[in-house]
Amino acid sequence: MASCEGPMGPVGDDGPKGDKGDPGTTLGCADCHNSSSPMAAFSAQWQESTHATGGNAAYANRAGCVQCHTSQGFLEYVAEGSTASISVPLNPMQINCATCHKIHQTYSGDDWALTKPGAQTLEVKYAGADVVWDKGTSNQCVFCHQSRNVSPAPAVDGADFNLASSRIGPHHGPNANLILGKTPFELPGTAHPTTNPHSTANGCVTCHMSTPYGYQAGGHNMALKYDSHGTETRLFTGCTTCHEIGSSPYTAFNNKITEAQNEVKGLLEDLEAQLIAAGVYNPTTELANTGNFKANAVLAYLNYNTVKEDRSLGIHNPGYIKTLLSNSIASMETLGYPAP
Ligand code: HEC
Ligand code: HEC
Ligand code: HEC
Ligand code: HEC
Ligand code: HEC
Ligand code: HEC
Repeated sequence: MASCEGPMGPVGDDGPKGDKGDPGTTLGCADCHNSSSPMAAFSAQWQESTHATGGNAAYANRAGCVQCHTSQGFLEYVAEGSTASISVPLNPMQINCATCHKIHQTYSGDDWALTKPGAQTLEVKYAGADVVWDKGTSNQCVFCHQSRNVSPAPAVDGADFNLASSRIGPHHGPNANLILGKTPFELPGTAHPTTNPHSTANGCVTCHMSTPYGYQAGGHNMALKYDSHGTETRLFTGCTTCHEIGSSPYTAFNNKITEAQNEVKGLLEDLEAQLIAAGVYNPTTELANTGNFKANAVLAYLNYNTVKEDRSLGIHNPGYIKTLLSNSIASMETLGYPAP
């Protein structure tokens, strides 16, 4: 049998106080992580945007593409100032907060600063001269949303051209070049307008980052169309400083946009038919056919491709885009391919 234990002894003295810890640097987490910050809303808008959901960071995670399609590739371009040797990341990320803002660098509100704030010299020259985009906070957008260089490209009225790559063209985002009205494949005819009412001081941001509609459009979503109970609806909050919109449902202005876009769609369809007749464009693959073609027919194809890939259907520079297409249509007529 075990014996009982004795009573508990008295409580001992308090031990000595420990050293004060290192106070560390003052962290500004609360500049951003606080309940009145717009961060949660902006994050929700971004999550529904093509920047988040497009999926092409995976598909285009290779040399020649990573600088525009992955967050890591873009930031490496910004750090190195050149696209000569950008690495291909193992875990490619879509464009996100840290692609455009200096998130978690000083851990203060200063980290909202943009990662690419300065003017951007575009890759493609115009009439032999550099083209510079310098429009406020939209400078952040145009390294990615600009034309790719086409080399070799035919000269106006030049010798027949050997179209060697079916993927010849400016790629998907020639937005900046068209807004400035400085695209390289202009054909002779009516003079191209040199002013654009939509070349605004803050560029892309004026229209695409205007007051949002929920998470679906504007703001950090950047889309200008959204689905409203099954109806495709346009966002006008970026247009109201200049255009008379009227009251809901904004029918007159909506019709003006539809008419303007339909006019450009019509020109694109005419030019497409001519390019098919000339054997330059293959409507099944939606790419060019390879082979030898008249120089001006290839230039007309490049103009077609530029306007198609811009996807604003003329809005980015209404007068210039219509002239680019109608001069291309006229050139194809001269080559013996009448517009339908
Ligand atoms: C400039 C504003 C800003 C400051 C200052 C800031 N953060 Fe963040 N933080 C962000 C943003 C933006 C995200 C990403 C949110 C998203 O993806 O929706 C984020 C995400 C996070 C996350 C989630 C994990 C991650 O990395 O995505 C944690 C944890 C975090 N922050 C902690 C902190 C702490 C701790 C501090 C202070 C030491 C701090 N943040 C300071 C803006 C900030
Ligand atoms: C780092 C390159 C990069 C930057 C910077 C960038 N974008 Fe994008 N943007 C892209 C890519 C790539 C896509 C397509 C994403 C995909 O398909 O995965 C895209 C998609 C878009 C779309 C959606 C098109 C659609 O089909 O829905 C809009 C609108 C857009 N960007 C506008 C902007 C604006 C405005 C800015 C500046 C505030 C900007 N972008 C900055 C690369 C960029
Ligand atoms: C100069 C920047 C840039 C480079 C380089 C670039 N892209 Fe893109 N790409 C974009 C932008 C911007 C968009 C979004 C355009 C839009 O939605 O209107 C895009 C869109 C795309 C899309 C979606 C097109 C669609 O119709 O949905 C694919 C696929 C794509 N790119 C593949 C590639 C591949 C593959 C490469 C490399 C061979 C590449 N990109 C190089 C900027 C770039
Ligand atoms: C494609 C580039 C791009 C991406 C991605 C992006 N932003 Fe922005 N953001 C901008 C631009 C450009 C502005 C300035 C808009 C203006 O001038 O009205 C801005 C402005 C802001 C501001 C206001 C900054 C200030 O100085 O007051 C906040 C906050 C912000 N963004 C948060 C975010 C968060 C959070 C994310 C991720 C969920 C994010 N942004 C992703 C381009 C981007
Ligand atoms: C004057 C307003 C305005 C400006 C400035 C502007 N856009 Fe647009 N953008 C539009 C409109 C309107 C559309 C067509 C939307 C539609 O079809 O309803 C469009 C379409 C687009 C598209 C096609 C995808 C989509 O969402 O329909 C992209 C990508 C795009 N713009 C990027 C840019 C970029 C990048 C800049 C700056 C270099 C820019 N835009 C400047 C108004 C503008
Ligand atoms: C900085 C001022 C400004 C902003 C912002 C602006 N516009 Fe315009 N827009 C003009 C001017 C000026 C004209 C030429 C006169 C006219 O037709 O109203 C024009 C013309 C147009 C046209 C007629 C195009 C044609 O074929 O002649 C359309 C459509 C249009 N704008 C749509 C838009 C949309 C959509 C937005 C917003 C996403 C927008 N605009 C934003 C100034 C602006």
